[in-house]
Amino acid sequence: MAVDVSGPPSMEAAPTFPGAGPSLAGVDRRSRRGRAPSAASSSPSSGAPPPGGTERKRPEGLLLEGDNLEWLLRLKADPAIRGKVDLVYIDPPFSTGRAFQVGRGSSEVAYLDTLRGDPFLAFLRSRLKELRGLLSDRGSIYVHIDCKVGHRVRLLLDEVFGEDRFINEIARVKCNPKNFRRAAYGNVKDVLLFYSKTADRIWNESRERLPPEDVERLFPLLDPQGRRYTTNPLHAPGVTRDGPTGRSWKGLPPPEGRHWRYDPSTLTRLDGEGRIEWSERGNPRLRIYAEEKVPRGKKRQDIWEFKDPPYPSYPTEKNLELLRTVIAASSDPGSLVLDAFCGSGTTLLAAHELHRRWIGIDASPVALRVARARLERAHARFGTPTLTALEGARREG
Ligand SMILES: C[S@@+](CC[C@H](N)C(=O)[O-])C[C@H]1O[C@@H](n2cnc3c(N)ncnc32)[C@H](O)[C@@H]1O
Repeated sequence: MAVDVSGPPSMEAAPTFPGAGPSLAGVDRRSRRGRAPSAASSSPSSGAPPPGGTERKRPEGLLLEGDNLEWLLRLKADPAIRGKVDLVYIDPPFSTGRAFQVGRGSSEVAYLDTLRGDPFLAFLRSRLKELRGLLSDRGSIYVHIDCKVGHRVRLLLDEVFGEDRFINEIARVKCNPKNFRRAAYGNVKDVLLFYSKTADRIWNESRERLPPEDVERLFPLLDPQGRRYTTNPLHAPGVTRDGPTGRSWKGLPPPEGRHWRYDPSTLTRLDGEGRIEWSERGNPRLRIYAEEKVPRGKKRQDIWEFKDPPYPSYPTEKNLELLRTVIAASSDPGSLVLDAFCGSGTTLLAAHELHRRWIGIDASPVALRVARARLERAHARFGTPTLTALEGARREG
C-alpha cells in the first residue's frame, strides 16, 4: 500500500495513492535537508540516476484537487502517510456567508463560504478528526480563524485534541487600522489556534528581531565609543554560606541577604575588561551591550504582526512570512506538512523553501491554478494526482 511520489515533476492525473504506485513516503528525507531552495529542482534526491540514463527527480509534494474530507480518508488509508504528518496548518473558510472573487473587477468565483452555524462546525469537526489521525506523535496543528467564530472552533479543538493539548491562541495583526463607520473598535486581528497531538511535540525556538525602539528602550546608555548598553546588578538574592560568591570582593561584601553573581576571579576579570560600572556610591553593576543581545532577537510572544499582501494572487492569500514562522517552529527539515485548505499554496511554498515535504488540498480549481503557478515559479517538484485517475486505477487493478 506504500505510495511513492517519485516520478516526473508534473504528474498530471497520474495515480499516486494506495495501490496505484507512487508514494509521498518515498520522498527522501535526507535529500530535502540543508539544500538551498533553488537547488530543489536541479539536484536528484535519490542519488543514482534511474535505468535509462534520465535522472528522475522525486517530487517533494502533492497538490490534490477536490473535497478535502475525501482526500483525507484516502491519505488515512496509506500507512506511509497516516501518523507521519508533523504539521497541519489550515485556514478554512471563516463562515462569512460570502462568495470570494478572484480579484477586484473579476466575476470569477474562487470559492463560496456559505456554511453557517452548526453545519459549519460539523464540517470542520469531521475534518479535524481525520487531520488528527494523520498527525505523527510529535505533530501539531494550527487552525487559522477569525474572531467571530474562533471561540467555537477552539471548543471543537478541545473536543478533538483535548484541552490539555492546547498550546497557544496567537493574535495575528492582519491589516492596517480600519476606519469603519460601525460603532465598534476596528478589528485588525484574527487568530491561530495551536494544538499538539501529544505532549512531546516538535518545537524549534522561535525568535524575532528587536525593533529599534525596543533597542533604545532596553539599552538606554551610551559608552564613550557610542555603543548602546544597560547595566544589571552584580548581586542576586540569597546568601552563599561557604562558596566564593558569598565572600568579599575588592573589600566589598555582597549586600545583606544577597550573593555575588560571579566568583571573585570572574568579577576581577570583568572589571579589567571595563565591563563593570561603579556608581558614585561605589556600587558595581555589569554592563550589558546591545550588540551582544540584539543579533539573537527576542523570544516570539503570542501577538504577531504579519499583514496579508495588499495585492494578493488569491482572495484570502495569507502572509508568506507567517507560514515560514509556523513551519520553522513546529516542523523539522524533511517533515511532512499538510494544508487541507491550501488556497493559493502559501503553506506549500513556505514548506518548499524550508526543505519540508508537503501535501496541499483544495476544492477550488482557481486555487489550484494559482498554487500551481506559484510553486512552479519556485521550482518546486510536485505531483497532481486526481480522484478520477485513482478510481480508474482501482477499477483496472
Ligand atoms: C481561506 S482560503 C485559504 C487561503 C490560503 N491559506 C492561502 O494562503 O491562499 C480557504 C480555502 O478552502 C478551500 N475549501 C473550502 N472548502 C473546502 C473543502 N471541502 N475541501 C477542500 N478545500 C476547501 C477554498 O476553496 C479556499 O481556497
